[in-house]
Amino acid sequence: MSSAAELPGSEAEPGNAADRPYLGGIPDATVARLPVYLRALYALAEHGVTTVASDELARSTGVNSAKLRKDLSHLGSYGIRGVGYDVEYLVYQVSRALGLTQRWPVVIVGAGNLGRALANYGGFLTRGFRIEAVLDSDPSLVGGNLGSMTVKHVDELESLVASSGIAIGVIAVPAGAAQATCDRLVAAGVTSILNFAPVVLNVPGGVDLRKVDLSIELQILAFHAQRRNAERFGQAADEAAVEA
Ligand code: NAI
Repeated sequence: MSSAAELPGSEAEPGNAADRPYLGGIPDATVARLPVYLRALYALAEHGVTTVASDELARSTGVNSAKLRKDLSHLGSYGIRGVGYDVEYLVYQVSRALGLTQRWPVVIVGAGNLGRALANYGGFLTRGFRIEAVLDSDPSLVGGNLGSMTVKHVDELESLVASSGIAIGVIAVPAGAAQATCDRLVAAGVTSILNFAPVVLNVPGGVDLRKVDLSIELQILAFHAQRRNAERFGQAADEAAVEA
């Protein structure tokens, strides 16, 4: 599979001048679509596809073709008329823009069901992230094996952030412990936080906080399923009325 990890300079640690991140101004809306393009490009590369037309990439990502071309132009990528984009090079360009051509050390706080599942997911490594440690406060979990890692006590958080240059903290603790965990990560110097706990967290300026909530995604799917059903049943009712 082609991935950021296999591309030139991809083993560089954060801050390595040999592989500077793309510094051009990219609109936030474009940044939000880049991971979607990257996922589609990975899928193409996995199937041995070497070039892709903008229309085809647009279709597979559900993005309007003109918008996609405009997005990619922000990365300095214009494709070749009649040929399209070189998949591997575009993976590199998108990865570079997202800062994924270097491996970001990540710490997961909470070694419960979710923390363990995340820690065991091998895909992060090829997507630019290295799980550096999984921490928990439960003495019965500390010292236990988790894949190739050992669960460490959360009291090691501060020293770990300092020694491993942790860039991203993942919060996978119960809601009641999430704000304190967040504060602790921030105080230790972590400026990018991904929160899974179902609670709104407060962070100071300069800290990027993102939240993942699968139940919200499911609720949106439920809304669309409900609308599709209503359209289907509405159509059937109309047809029945015409036949009657
Ligand atoms: P869990 O109860 O299996 O694991 C939580 C772990 O956090 C436990 O091992 C516990 O010892 C540890 N912990 C508690 N306080 C701590 C502290 N102050 N410092 C370090 N470790 C601490 O829970 P599970 O199922 O893994 O869920 C974790 C969190 O993720 C919960 O808040 C849950 O609601 C949320 N969640 C969110 C999902 C989403 O879609 N966003 C999906 C599934 C879970």
